[in-house]
Amino acid sequence: MSYNTLLLDTQSGITTLTINRPDKLNALNAEVLKEIGEAVRAFSEDSAAHIMIITGSGPKAFAAGADIVELHSRDGQTGADFSRYGQVVFDAIEASDKPIIAAVNGFALGGGCELSMACHMRFASANARFGQPEVNLGIIPGYGGTQRLPRLVGFAKAVELTISGNVIKADEALRIGLVNGVVEQEDLMQHVTEFAQLVLSKSQPAVRSSMRALMSFEREGGMEREAIEFGITCGTNDFKEGTLAFLEKRSANFTNS
Ligand code: COA
Repeated sequence: MSYNTLLLDTQSGITTLTINRPDKLNALNAEVLKEIGEAVRAFSEDSAAHIMIITGSGPKAFAAGADIVELHSRDGQTGADFSRYGQVVFDAIEASDKPIIAAVNGFALGGGCELSMACHMRFASANARFGQPEVNLGIIPGYGGTQRLPRLVGFAKAVELTISGNVIKADEALRIGLVNGVVEQEDLMQHVTEFAQLVLSKSQPAVRSSMRALMSFEREGGMEREAIEFGITCGTNDFKEGTLAFLEKRSANFTNS
C-alpha cells in the first residue's frame, strides 16, 4: 500500500511509521489521520510485523497537532464528527495487541501529544516538547486527550496542562510519567529500535497475551482476562521451550508458536 503523508518501512519485524509533512511540522490533517488508520490496520494484519514505532519526519516535530488550517472551517457538527473520527483512529492504536511505541522527536502538541498517548509507550528526544495548547485556540483536546492524559499523569497535572495550555520539556514529561525515557535526538531511533529488538527476542505469543491482559487494566474482568491469557500462553510451544531452556540452563529458541 502506498501513502501520501506517511513513510512506512517494515524490517526484521519492526514497522516504522513516519508522519511525513515536515514543512507543516507533521500537522495531522484528515488525510494523515485516514492513512494512520489504514497503516495500523495493515500492521495488525501483517504476520511479519510484530512491533511498530511511530515518529515524525524532520528534526523539529513529532506532530504539532491537528491541522489548524483545516480545523478553522469546522463548525459545531463537523467538529464533533471529526473528534469522533480521530478518536476511532487513535483507539485502534491503543487496542493493538502488538506493541506500538512513539519515538517523539520534537513537538508533540495537541493531537500530536494525543497520538503519542494513544501509543503504548513513549520515548522522547531531549528537544521534544509536550502540551495540549488547544485552549489557546478556543477549543479542547478532541482525540482522546482528556481521557488519556489523566490516566498517564494523574488528574491534577492533566487539568493543569489542559486549562493552561502550557508546553513542557522532555525532562518534565519524564518526571511526571508522560514518557518512558529521554535520549539525545541523534540517539532516539537507535534507542527505540534496540528496545523493539529486545521485545522481538521474546516469545511473541507471550508479548501479545501480555498486551491483551495489560489493556484490561482497571477494567471490569481484568483479572479474568489475565487468567485467560495466562492459559493461552501455557498452551504454546514457546512456553514449553522457555521453561525447558531454563531447566537446561541455556537460552530459549522461540518459534513464536
Ligand atoms: N496546523 C497547521 N499548520 C501548522 C501547525 C498546525 N498545527 N503547526 C505548525 N504549522 C505550520 C506553520 O503554519 C508553518 O507553516 P508555513 O511555513 O506555511 O507558515 C510551519 O508549520 C512551521 O511552523 P512555525 O509556526 O513557523 O514554526 P515555529 O518553529 O515558529 O513554531 C510551533 C513551532 C509548534 C510552536 C508552532 O508551529 C505552533 O504553535 N503550532 C501550533 C501548535 C498547536 O496549537 N497545536 C494544537 C492544534 S489543535
